[in-house]
Amino acid sequence: MPQHEPKNALVTGGTSGIGLAVTRLLAQSGHRVFLCARTEDSVTSTVKMLQEEGLDVDGLPCDVRSPHDIDRFVRAAVDRYGSIDVLVNNAGRSGGGVTADIQDEVWFDVINTNLNSVFLMTRAVLTAGGMREKPRGRIINIASTAGKQGVVLGAPYSASKHGVVGFTKALGNELAATGITVNAVCPGYVETPMAQRVRQGYAAAYGTSEDKILEKFQAKIPLGRYSTPEEVAGLVGYLVTDTAASITSQALNVCGGLGNF
Ligand SMILES: NC(=O)c1ccc[n+]([C@@H]2O[C@H](COP(=O)([O-])OP(=O)(O)OC[C@H]3O[C@@H](n4cnc5c(N)ncnc54)[C@H](OP(=O)(O)O)[C@@H]3O)[C@@H](O)[C@H]2O)c1
Repeated sequence: MPQHEPKNALVTGGTSGIGLAVTRLLAQSGHRVFLCARTEDSVTSTVKMLQEEGLDVDGLPCDVRSPHDIDRFVRAAVDRYGSIDVLVNNAGRSGGGVTADIQDEVWFDVINTNLNSVFLMTRAVLTAGGMREKPRGRIINIASTAGKQGVVLGAPYSASKHGVVGFTKALGNELAATGITVNAVCPGYVETPMAQRVRQGYAAAYGTSEDKILEKFQAKIPLGRYSTPEEVAGLVGYLVTDTAASITSQALNVCGGLGNF
């Protein structure tokens, strides 16, 4: 018999980058993890890959911009594993450009994907997911150092991540006495498929190469390199422990010194 009952975790955007590293680490530390992303094939192949690693992982396609999908996803997770102990709101997108030229669709989609989803998923997990009834819970929102400082050509992204940090602080204080902690993890530059797309976007905007953009970004990071998805997952892995019970309402950076605020 394990010393502790396994805990049930939900991870959004669990098929790539940071979400995949978080899913693997939580499952390796004894969680049953139910993940989502929009692309059915990648959900199926990720679940299969992790199950073949001996991990207790399952999942469903779910678009975190859709209240209907969220409701279905949370109910399916509860049916599969039981009520939810840990929620990691990770799914997100980049997006921006010259602010005066940003189309409505881009602005609203970045806010829907990165911010409104965090409220909708969190509310569903607290209610239908049963977390509100538990003596202990963990909600971790993957924000960004862009949630603490402005990013040039990234107004919608920066606004959405500042919103996630504000939501985290407010809900953390609201739930502090309940045993549910709420924290934001703020990565700086992390080598993932999203980071590659971001470098492509800046290379096009500045009329330069992706290698030059990489050099420019690395030069801004005191550590001199991008963080890894596993380094971000490591902090999530700590925040879910019992020892982290008094860490709540915080926005903690994993960024090689990029942000020191
Ligand atoms: N990489 C960085 O440098 C960096 C820095 C700071 C913060 N972050 C944040 O970290 C989080 C993860 O980023 P990443 O770099 O790991 O990105 P990534 O490699 O692009 O992975 C994003 C994941 O989210 C899923 N996703 C995207 N939109 C979704 C939606 N509407 N509904 C459900 N799932 C969705 C993607 O799958 P589908 O496309 O199949 O849906 C994928 O699984 C994001 O919130 C990002 O803003 C990243």
